[in-house]
Amino acid sequence: MTPSDSREPAQRSAIVTGAARGIGLAIGARLAADGMLIALWDRDAGQLEEAAQALSAQGATVLAVPVDITDRAHVDRALAQSMEALGQPSVLVNNAAILGRSGPTLDASLDEWKRVFDVNVFGALQCAQAVVPGMVRRGYGRVVNVASIAGKEGNPFAAAYAASKAALISMTKSLGKELAETGVLVNCITPSAADTDIFAVYDQSQRAQLEARLLERVPMKRFVRVEEVAEMAAWLCSVRCSFSTGAVFDISGGRAMY
Ligand SMILES: NC(=O)c1ccc[n+]([C@@H]2O[C@H](COP(=O)([O-])OP(=O)(O)OC[C@H]3O[C@@H](n4cnc5c(N)ncnc54)[C@H](O)[C@@H]3O)[C@@H](O)[C@H]2O)c1
Repeated sequence: MTPSDSREPAQRSAIVTGAARGIGLAIGARLAADGMLIALWDRDAGQLEEAAQALSAQGATVLAVPVDITDRAHVDRALAQSMEALGQPSVLVNNAAILGRSGPTLDASLDEWKRVFDVNVFGALQCAQAVVPGMVRRGYGRVVNVASIAGKEGNPFAAAYAASKAALISMTKSLGKELAETGVLVNCITPSAADTDIFAVYDQSQRAQLEARLLERVPMKRFVRVEEVAEMAAWLCSVRCSFSTGAVFDISGGRAMY
C-alpha cells in the first residue's frame, strides 16, 4: 500500500464539471459504470437535467447540480449540495470550458481573454480550492483537469483558449507537486479535436474550415471519440492510477509525441 491508494473510500463519489454534454457527460457515464456516485455540474440547467435523467435511466446514481464555476459562492453551494446527496467527493474532474471567439490574436480584446480565463482557468482553480482540501484531510483523491492539445501547441485564431489550456497544464504540474505526499493525485489530459458542441460558437463554414485544419494535423485522421477521452479519465480517476501526478496525458491520435 502507498499513501496514494491506502485511503480509497469504499463508496466513491465524483464531481464532473461541464457535464451536461460532450466530453464531461461521457466521463460522468464512464465513472458511473465504475460504480461511482456522480455529481454532474454545469451552468446549463436544462441540458443538465436531461443528461442526469439519461444516466439515471442506465442505472447510475447521479445528481444534477446547476452551477456557474466562475462564481465561488455557486461552487461552494454546489459542493455542499453534492456532499449532502452523495457524500464526500474523492474525484474531481475539471472539464467545463469555453472556446471563446475565433480571430486574429492581435485584434483580440482583453475582455474576451478574461472571459475565457474566467471559466477555463479560474473556474478550475476555484473548484479545486473548494473540493481538494477535503480530499487532503481524508488522505485520498484524484483530480483530472481536461486541458487540450491546444495548450501544448497553440491553435491559430484561438490564442485565449490555447493559452488558458497551457495555464491549466501548468496548474496541474504545480498542484500535483504540492500534493504529491498527500494521497491526492492531480493529472491532466490533452485531447485533440472531438466533434462536440464546443464548436457551436462558429457558423457552419467556419466550423468546416476549422475541422479540416484540425484533422489534417492528426496522424490518425479522425476526431477523438468522447468515450476514448472518458476511458483515459476513468483510469486517472481510479485507485489503479497510483504513481502519476502532475502529469500530462496525451490523447491525440499521434499528433503530439510528448
Ligand atoms: N471538443 C474538443 O475538440 C476538445 C478538444 C480538447 C479538449 N477539449 C476540452 O474538453 C472539455 C469539454 O469539451 P466539450 O467539447 O465537451 O465542450 P462542450 O461545449 O460540449 O461542453 C462544455 C460544457 O461546459 C459547460 N460550461 C461552460 N462554462 C461553464 C461554467 N462557467 N460553469 C459551468 N459549466 C460551464 C457548458 O455548459 C457545457 O455543457 C473542455 O475542457 C474542452 O476545452 C475539447
